[in-house]
Amino acid sequence: MLACSRCGLHATRTQAVPGTGPCPADVMVVGEAPGFNEDVQGKPFVGAAGKLLDKLLERIGRGRDTVYITNVLKCRPPQNRDPMRMLPGVGSISRVHGQIFMRGGVAFMPVYHPAAALHNGSLVRDLEQDFDRVRGYLDEVLKPPEPEPLAEPDPEPSAEQLSLLN
Ligand code: URA
Repeated sequence: MLACSRCGLHATRTQAVPGTGPCPADVMVVGEAPGFNEDVQGKPFVGAAGKLLDKLLERIGRGRDTVYITNVLKCRPPQNRDPMRMLPGVGSISRVHGQIFMRGGVAFMPVYHPAAALHNGSLVRDLEQDFDRVRGYLDEVLKPPEPEPLAEPDPEPSAEQLSLLN
């Protein structure tokens, strides 16, 4: 990926920004595309939006070291244009944020971009509530399985059954 030149974005990037975090990971954050700071540092979400993302991750009991963070685009688009989204056709973000969509056995939850909340403070509450839902979902799917109920003990053999053994 670092050497990829399969689309025009390679010509204007400083470097590709593949992602950071453990692989495999049970939680993955996927942003839009690297911005100015990410393009310079080669890491995702290192600017102001990244600070808000860190706080949101704290809400689900996670640090960056336990979450894989990446972007749909790996190279900074020169005019900051929108990339293609991961869930085409599900609807506008204002309608679908906070909902879980299952695709190929993976649970996807669209949330507002942290940078949008930096511009419009009323979205912070929506983001916090959506991350609380992520936490609820993770608590549910990662909880250890219930132990199997103990088998009923066999009833005592009847006198008739015992007589068959003789
Ligand atoms: N916005 C994004 O979508 N991704 C980043 O890595 C930083 C800001």
